[in-house]
Amino acid sequence: MKVVSLIAQKGGVGKTTLSTCLAVQAVQDGKRVLVVDLDPQATASFWSDIRKKPDDPAVMSIQPVRLPAVLKAAEDAGTDIVIIDGAAVSKEVAYSAAEVADLVLIPFKAAVFDINSVAQTVQTVKQVGSKFALVLTFVPPQGKETDEAMGIAEQLGSNFCPVLIGNRKAYFRAQSTGLAVQEFEPDGKAADEINALYTYMADQLAVRTKGKGNARKLA
Ligand SMILES: Nc1ncnc2c1ncn2[C@@H]1O[C@H](COP(=O)(O)OP(=O)(O)O)[C@@H](O)[C@H]1O
Ligand SMILES: [Mg+2]
Repeated sequence: MKVVSLIAQKGGVGKTTLSTCLAVQAVQDGKRVLVVDLDPQATASFWSDIRKKPDDPAVMSIQPVRLPAVLKAAEDAGTDIVIIDGAAVSKEVAYSAAEVADLVLIPFKAAVFDINSVAQTVQTVKQVGSKFALVLTFVPPQGKETDEAMGIAEQLGSNFCPVLIGNRKAYFRAQSTGLAVQEFEPDGKAADEINALYTYMADQLAVRTKGKGNARKLA
């Protein structure tokens, strides 16, 4: 079982959106998937409640203190991949989500990135020693945000995920209707981004990838 945590001590950067989209992608890849929702606002859980799809990833809303027990139960139940949607609430929550992760993805917003909050999250994850990468989200069609963000990643001594997540209405629309963006608009650019991010995640988890074209699989 692999655990991927999406953490950022800032709200509205795309943690829940990426968690749910990656979870659906993993389900489509034939994996048994659990999303652990650590957010007291339970956004991922509400998304799951309004979903009417049979190929659901399981979503569990829990208190962070239950994380070790829930992960143990997931492993015993034969789960392949757990995606933790970390809350922006506290350093402790970020710490506990990072601690159990094989990979931490730290989404940060292109237009208004707040270097201090990213630096704080990076510091927390570094303390734990987990493998991590910054994922730039809300990337506008043009602009110098990407170069700036790469510079920030370098300054912080972080991996920078080469897959950029665009600022696209489809993410918002999909999320609010209980879908992942690749279900909402299968031929859209956002679907390609999620597919590429999933492939990146699989590579980072150092699992063998197989399959044809861009539909690579978590082995
Ligand atoms: N790449 C994106 N482009 C446009 N809107 C997005 C994108 N990612 C997320 N959103 C929207 O922005 C809001 C915040 O995203 P969310 O994933 O809930 O952030 P977080 O979990 O970090 O608080 C949501 O309404 C979501 O639908
Ligand atoms: Mg959220």
